[in-house]
Amino acid sequence: MTIISTADELFDGDLCIDLRRTLGIPLYLKCEGFNFTGSIKIRAAVSMVSAGIQQGLITRDSTIVESSSGNLGVALSVVAAARSLRFVCVTDPKCNPATVKLMCALGTRVVVAETPDAAGSHLSARKELVRELCRRNAGYVWLNQYENPANWIAHYETTAPLIAKQFPELHVLFVGTGTGGTLTGCSRYFRENRPDVRVVAVDTVGSVNFGMPAGPRHLPGVGAGERMPLLDAAPVHDLVQVPEQDTVRTCRCLARQGFLLGGSTGTVVSGAARWLARHDPAGTRTSVAVSADTGERYLDTVYDDSWVRRTYGALAGLDALDPPEWLAPPDGPDGLDRLDGLGEPTEDGGDRP
Ligand SMILES: Cc1ncc(COP(=O)(O)O)c(C=O)c1O
Repeated sequence: MTIISTADELFDGDLCIDLRRTLGIPLYLKCEGFNFTGSIKIRAAVSMVSAGIQQGLITRDSTIVESSSGNLGVALSVVAAARSLRFVCVTDPKCNPATVKLMCALGTRVVVAETPDAAGSHLSARKELVRELCRRNAGYVWLNQYENPANWIAHYETTAPLIAKQFPELHVLFVGTGTGGTLTGCSRYFRENRPDVRVVAVDTVGSVNFGMPAGPRHLPGVGAGERMPLLDAAPVHDLVQVPEQDTVRTCRCLARQGFLLGGSTGTVVSGAARWLARHDPAGTRTSVAVSADTGERYLDTVYDDSWVRRTYGALAGLDALDPPEWLAPPDGPDGLDRLDGLGEPTEDGGDRP
């Protein structure tokens, strides 16, 4: 039995789904969405707030402020409420209304940066509003998830060691890339402690995180419209870029088996399936993918037929019950990309840049 006294104590990193039965993929899915914040962002939120308190930046009189389009905002709302701290979340009109309500219910003040900047970026408009709030209000502290080392350190100190302990035979770890906190923390941990483990980044087509061309993206979590300063590609072995259509298909396929998971989980599973089809066709290795959240926050997008048709046009496999062949194409072009900045994997995975 787990007994907690404050809402930010529950991380519950124990649950893993074996996807061999549901999708026919030799992959374990490490579920990070079963805590009071509903996502893996509890780790970054606790780490950044604790570091701020230890460094004396956050005191009883402080107001935490952060830019977020969703999961980090909810996670910080929970952590702030649990620690009796004030929190202002700066978001934008693309933020799901249910998420705004959730943050308000937790006692957060939500401010919307209505207008994107001249280049059309909501992210830079949000960051500018955060700076403005800090300039105007004494006691406002910007955690800055995009540059705060406590973001990646959370995963170096908790996520990665837990995976290493749960899977002593681990060969490959697949991690989605938003701010790069999870990827950087995990890949640095494995480089230093288990250099035989390959860490594969999974990103969305249209994200510039790894220097690829920018393009339209509609789902939060994975992918970025500007390079994330925290992201360190050096300890990462490989990259898979996944089109959002495959993200949606994979999510819906999992949901039809009872696993209602978040958008980025569809991205990571789809990318892992492609990578494994090419690099481990016999399925003999132990592979793990990180699932960042569950599916309720995506009922109006990924799981909504009219949103999917409006956004992507006709989507084959929209209602598929069986894992379709696109999930693990046997041969041919598969969207895998090797980056110049990434290490060259060898058969034993012992390579490093
Ligand atoms: C659903 C989801 N998946 C993946 C990520 C990526 O995490 P990171 O910012 O550590 O790269 C996030 C981050 O917000 C997320 O919300």
